[in-house]
Amino acid sequence: MKLLVTGGCGFIGSNFILEMLAEYPDLYIVNLDLLTYAGNFENLQDTIPYGDRHRFVRGDIADRELVDSLMCNGIDAVVNFAAESHVDRSIIDASAFVRTNVLGTQVLLDACRRHGVGRFVQVSTDEVYGSLGPDGAFTECHPLAPNSPYSATKAAADLLVRSYHKTYGIDAVITRCSNNYGPYQFPEKLIPLMITNAMVDAPLPVYGDGLNVRDWIHVRDHCRAVDLVLRKGCAGSVYNVGANSEYPNIEIVRYILSRLGKPESLIRFVKDRPGHDRRYAMDATLIREELGWEPEADFESGLDQTICWYIEHETWWRRVKSGEYLTYYDTWYTERLGGKEAGIGRGE
Ligand code: NAD
Ligand code: TYD
Repeated sequence: MKLLVTGGCGFIGSNFILEMLAEYPDLYIVNLDLLTYAGNFENLQDTIPYGDRHRFVRGDIADRELVDSLMCNGIDAVVNFAAESHVDRSIIDASAFVRTNVLGTQVLLDACRRHGVGRFVQVSTDEVYGSLGPDGAFTECHPLAPNSPYSATKAAADLLVRSYHKTYGIDAVITRCSNNYGPYQFPEKLIPLMITNAMVDAPLPVYGDGLNVRDWIHVRDHCRAVDLVLRKGCAGSVYNVGANSEYPNIEIVRYILSRLGKPESLIRFVKDRPGHDRRYAMDATLIREELGWEPEADFESGLDQTICWYIEHETWWRRVKSGEYLTYYDTWYTERLGGKEAGIGRGE
């Protein structure tokens, strides 16, 4: 099988490629990634032993010519991870989100149509459903009600995928997963940001009252779900993916501090994110019952392993927390953290 994976140098895409190469000896992967600030070829160091079963192409999923040239070489299926993925950055400027997440998806779908690609998997998110009250969980039937520019572009892409299936008969499937954690996550997201800031005794910026709830899943469990949907999912279906691991943000931050032996005095409650969704929770009954998927990682040991990974990979995250990251950190956190204090979180 020849698979086109987009965004394979990002957090989830790189974990997916490594898992897939190890699992399927006959699999050949073309990895199309633009290497934006979030893409890092270092994430794929461990693919070296797989030789030419992994081919990297630097490029944009919204580049029609390039995508066409890749697809005309006999691609059997596409898994689309490529995206602008951070809510806070989408609040600062949504332009790249619209281009990559919406236009990029359309370009890929058009190319699948032209070249008769067997299957298209769109990797989407629980955030397209909007926010929940204190009870209940999102099922696949929940209406789409995105609240951030990021989630609006992901919802738009999901609707395009749906329409290409209905209109042109493209064999497309959508996965909607909850918040991931694990190795190689870019340290702008909650868990790696808090771990790496705590490691250098920098302040930990917690939005609002810290009681927003996210439903956490280990990245490897998400990757196994995407693989199952790729191989066995029913064309035109949406599959929610989640591991029933709901925690308020503040509990996670306190846990990380205790594991690292750092004081809670590092916590700063800062101005909230505008439009901040209060709670996400996923009902993953469909993928469990139809495809037999089960999450394997339990949250506490998964988080412990993730903390160890960041301790062991300090060179990796110190390199990532430089250059463009510093500009972003200044823009988003300096005022929130009262000026000078933000400097410490930049790694100074
Ligand atoms: P990430 O930001 O770590 O990686 C995104 C990757 O896409 C990067 O390697 C980047 O270089 C690449 N990319 C960006 N624009 C591109 C373009 N125009 N052309 C080609 N490549 C481009 O993101 P992630 O956390 O790994 O998320 C991957 C996917 O999973 C996204 O679609 C995201 O919406 C979805 N998702 C993420 C989570 C989560 O918790 N991180 C949860 C559910 C769904
Ligand atoms: P994030 O990792 O950005 O994922 P998402 O917003 O896509 O769910 O944030 C997870 C939660 O952590 C969310 O409720 C916002 C909160 N958060 C903070 O409190 N402080 C921070 O600095 C960040 C990045 C997130």
